[in-house]
Amino acid sequence: MKIMVTGANGMLGQDLCPMLENIGAFVIPTDISNLDITDKNAVDDFVKNVHPDIIVHCAAYTNVDKAENDKENAFKINGEGAENIAIAASENNALMIYISTDYVFDGTKTTPYLPNDKTNPINVYGASKLEGEEAVKKYCQKYYIARTSWLYGHNGKNFVETMILLADKPELKVVDDQVGCPTWTVELCRGIIKLISEQKPYGTYHVCGGGNTSWYGFAKEIFNQMELNVNLKPCTTDEFPRDAKRPKYSIMENNSICPDWKESLKEYIKLRG
Ligand SMILES: NC(=O)c1ccc[n+]([C@@H]2O[C@H](COP(=O)([O-])OP(=O)(O)OC[C@H]3O[C@@H](n4cnc5c(N)ncnc54)[C@H](OP(=O)(O)O)[C@@H]3O)[C@@H](O)[C@H]2O)c1
Repeated sequence: MKIMVTGANGMLGQDLCPMLENIGAFVIPTDISNLDITDKNAVDDFVKNVHPDIIVHCAAYTNVDKAENDKENAFKINGEGAENIAIAASENNALMIYISTDYVFDGTKTTPYLPNDKTNPINVYGASKLEGEEAVKKYCQKYYIARTSWLYGHNGKNFVETMILLADKPELKVVDDQVGCPTWTVELCRGIIKLISEQKPYGTYHVCGGGNTSWYGFAKEIFNQMELNVNLKPCTTDEFPRDAKRPKYSIMENNSICPDWKESLKEYIKLRG
């Protein structure tokens, strides 16, 4: 099985490539250095040449706040880039796996989001990722859209490492009025592998940690598990303004595809040593 991975040098890609190799796949890693996904001709030639069975599309414009004032680039990479990959996947009969986000929702629901719930992004990043989802649905017959959220991993800037860096502050305020599902990159990779190996029906899945919490609750659990004594205080979103609006309620139903987020956090912390 030949699997092409875009965004292979990113936080998710760096965990995904070796995990795919571990299940016996021949992995073709790509990133901006050898394939710019916004270059349609380059994408067409590359995919035709390597003729993969599967493309896992992890490459993206991921700076949520920066995207607010850099709309054109965000849409070029997350919308047009995804469309280029989707067309090439379809023309070469490859299964397309598109990594998407909880930010396609507006956060006004009060019960966990289901894969077919109405999307209505409230920031540029979410809107650009939704455009990518729509391209996948338009061009691919064989696809999985894997929506994930609050991602952290060993190879990228993320909330867990930021909290650990800030642990010695005299007081640490963390937002308590946004709730969601923290997801470890390795757990997302296991979920992607499950979709492939169990040959789940094509469509949209929520591949995020089970259970839910607020950012404050997430921080509290990190410090508990690491046995760090931190002066942690809850605060509101209004006290911590950002360029991009975030959905208040980002909980997605994951149908047990990933374990409880606290269990995954334990494994992550154990591995980071
Ligand atoms: N991080 C989260 O909390 C989160 C939450 C939900 C969903 N997701 C989704 O999960 C996926 C993986 O995220 P991640 O955290 O691993 O992101 P990441 O670390 O930012 O990795 C994205 C990779 O894509 C590359 N890239 C950017 N523009 C490109 C282009 N034009 N052509 C080719 N490659 C390009 C980046 O290269 P440069 O670094 O050189 O730009 C980077 O290596 C993304 O689709 C993201 O939207 C992430």
